[in-house]
Amino acid sequence: MPPQSKFTVLDETLYQYMVAHRTPDDEVARELREETARLGSRSTMQISPDQATLLRILVSAIGARRAIEVGTFTGYSALAIARGLPPDGHLLCLDVSDEWTQIARRYWERAGLAEHIELRLGPAAETLHALREEATFDFAFIDADKPGYPVYWDALVRRLRPGGLVAVDNVLWDGEVVETDKRGADLLAIRRFNELVLDDRRVESVMLPVADGLTLARKLP
Ligand SMILES: C[S@@+](CC[C@H](N)C(=O)[O-])C[C@H]1O[C@@H](n2cnc3c(N)ncnc32)[C@H](O)[C@@H]1O
Repeated sequence: MPPQSKFTVLDETLYQYMVAHRTPDDEVARELREETARLGSRSTMQISPDQATLLRILVSAIGARRAIEVGTFTGYSALAIARGLPPDGHLLCLDVSDEWTQIARRYWERAGLAEHIELRLGPAAETLHALREEATFDFAFIDADKPGYPVYWDALVRRLRPGGLVAVDNVLWDGEVVETDKRGADLLAIRRFNELVLDDRRVESVMLPVADGLTLARKLP
C-alpha cells in the first residue's frame, strides 16, 4: 500500500490559530518583527513566528552550545536560536548585508544577547572556508541564497558533532518543488538540494511542512 497522506492543509485561519497557540514572542522579538515588516516586501525573507519557536525549542532540546546560522537578515531567527542556548552558548551568524544586520545588532543588544552572537559579513561560502579547522557546531540553520545551499550544507554537516542538527529553510519553495512545469533558478537549486540531502548518508532527515518547508537533519554517529 502506498503511504497515506496525513497532511492537514492549512488555510489562513488555521495557521493563525496555530501561531496563537505557541509560546509567544517576547517583546524584543515582537518589535523586531514589527520593524522588519516596515521594510515592505523584503520582510517576507524573515522566518515565521512558529518557525522561530521551533528553532528555539530544538536548540535547547539538544543542549546545543555552539550554533551557526547562514542568512541572518534583520536577526529574528538568530534571536530565536540564541534564546535556546545556555548562558555560555555562542552563535555565529553569516550574512553579506551590513544594512540589514545593523538592525539585527540593535535587537540582539536589547535582548542582552549581543555578547553571545558573533556576526561575520561576507559571502558565506568564503567565511565557512576560512573557519579554523577545529570549529564544530551542535546546531546549524541554513536560510540564505538557494544556489549556495549545497556548499553550506556540506561545510556544516562536516563540522556538526554526531547527534547535532541542521535545519534548512524553504525546501518546499511555495509548493513548486512538485510542479514540474515550474523552472526558476532558485526552484531548480532547491530541487537539486533536496535530492542531495536524500542521498547524504551522513544524516537522517525529515521535511516538515512548517512555513515554506523546513528540512531537519541529524548527523549520524
Ligand atoms: C531569507 S534571508 C534570512 C532571513 C533570516 N533567517 C531571518 O529569519 O530573518 C536571506 C539572507 O541571506 C543573505 N545572503 C544572501 N546571499 C548570501 C551569501 N552568499 N552569503 C551570506 N549571506 C547571504 C541575505 O543578505 C539575507 O539577509
